[in-house]
Amino acid sequence: MKILNFGSINKDYVYSVNEFVSPGETIQTSNLKTFIGGKGLNQSVAIAQAGSEVFHAGNINIKDDYIKKELIKWNVNIDYMEEVDESTGHAIIQVNRSGENSIIIHGGANRVFESDQIDKVLENFNQEDILLIQNEINKIPEIIEKAKNRGMTIFFNPAPMTKEVLKYPLSLVDYLIVNESEAKKLSKNKIDFDEIIFDLKRKYSNTSVLLTLGEKGSIYSNRNEYFKCEAVNVNAVDSTAAGDTFIGYFISCLSKKKEIKDCLLIASKAASICVTKKGGAISIPNHKFVI
Ligand code: RIB
Repeated sequence: MKILNFGSINKDYVYSVNEFVSPGETIQTSNLKTFIGGKGLNQSVAIAQAGSEVFHAGNINIKDDYIKKELIKWNVNIDYMEEVDESTGHAIIQVNRSGENSIIIHGGANRVFESDQIDKVLENFNQEDILLIQNEINKIPEIIEKAKNRGMTIFFNPAPMTKEVLKYPLSLVDYLIVNESEAKKLSKNKIDFDEIIFDLKRKYSNTSVLLTLGEKGSIYSNRNEYFKCEAVNVNAVDSTAAGDTFIGYFISCLSKKKEIKDCLLIASKAASICVTKKGGAISIPNHKFVI
């Protein structure tokens, strides 16, 4: 079983602030650090750090070759990465005193995927393989449909949530992974977690739903199963990439045929370690410190 992640790659500019900037306000940052990130890249790094092989299909600008070298160091396969003329995507991230973040992304190279590029990548994968996708790149419906035609198992994390997601072919998705705000938007702002799960399962009856709730834990449910997992309590300094860590570890564990409740526990532990360190991909722990 191979894992393919068609996903974004960003340069993250991380600004430490006391409070997030308000409308009309100008504030000073106490610190600026740059990292490589993107929900796609972070999730690939998490899968690799969890001990699974992952192929990352992503676009960067031709001048940002160093990103490929970093990914190789993390054991992410870069055979399907492309260098394009568009600037590499970037993210402006504010991290406040409580370790919460607020993010603006600029798509750049993440938004210039072409149909023939998608075909060339997908022809290397089949019904035994997994496709992971987030919502930071273009042509998502096409990728989902083409991967499904090849019989791949599809994991979709609609982050960041946009109106377009409601028009995507979500019934083709095998595993829908959402956080609280994404889940609410997909289920017409229902508040109760079990009602949200019930609503999503009613709409997408063949899809397993994983709801990640940060410090409130996580819930997984499909047609026959329902599991709740508590979060591991830690002192958070930066929540960037915690969700990505959870997702990468969950998929790696599932691909190794671990029990769902163990996948949730391990993913939760990995995410709790991630939030104790600053930065995105660089704060994703290796499985030696998790399992
Ligand atoms: O999930 C965290 C990521 O979101 C950051 O690395 C940033 O690039 C944005 O995509």
